[in-house]
Amino acid sequence: MSEKQPVTTFHYLLHPYNTSLVTCCDAEGNPNIITIAWLIPVSVRPPLVGMSIGHSRFSYRLIRETGEFVINVAPYEIANHVLFCGRRSGRDVDKFAETGLTPSEAQNVRPPIIKECIAHLECRVVQDVEAGDHHIVVGEVLAAYANRGVLEENGLYRLSEVQMLFHLGRNCFTSIEGKFEELSV
Ligand SMILES: Cc1cc2nc3c(=O)[nH]c(=O)nc-3n(C[C@H](O)[C@H](O)[C@H](O)COP(=O)(O)O)c2cc1C
Repeated sequence: MSEKQPVTTFHYLLHPYNTSLVTCCDAEGNPNIITIAWLIPVSVRPPLVGMSIGHSRFSYRLIRETGEFVINVAPYEIANHVLFCGRRSGRDVDKFAETGLTPSEAQNVRPPIIKECIAHLECRVVQDVEAGDHHIVVGEVLAAYANRGVLEENGLYRLSEVQMLFHLGRNCFTSIEGKFEELSV
């Protein structure tokens, strides 16, 4: 058996995590973008997702204010913008203007979707649980859609068409290359 070593950066042991750009806006509709890796589906019926967001984030304030956000699934090609939106605050910069990412109207909520992303989940906040230095914000999925061609007929990502983006930790990213297997029991 291999020897075990203690680790203080315990959260990185659970990475790489699929990473998204989450959009939100203030009461006047001014949009912001935050990079979020800690996202999970939590229920299918009703459709719910959970997002762990630091209470110091400007975006957390906006999401509390309006109760809405959009999860925009980012492809590997825009990793540099994902890092930028995860290292700068909307308190100081306009992230749409700085990155050149394109806002586009969502179907059911006020925050815009991001055109360069491959899939979108429009959400309304239904629960907010304080957990240490983060909040688990639970969102009901009001609409979910993806770029035509990026999904197989069974709803899985077509990995020959899209390169998914995963956050390994710190400023490091990776993607899934090649390995694919459909197993049966
Ligand atoms: C790859 C990456 C993933 C991140 N994931 C999260 C996350 O899951 N939750 C969170 O609260 N912050 C996360 N962050 C940090 C926020 O994106 C960062 O603090 C951001 O600048 C906050 O922006 P805002 O102040 O405009 O809301 C992540 C940063 C990076 C670079």
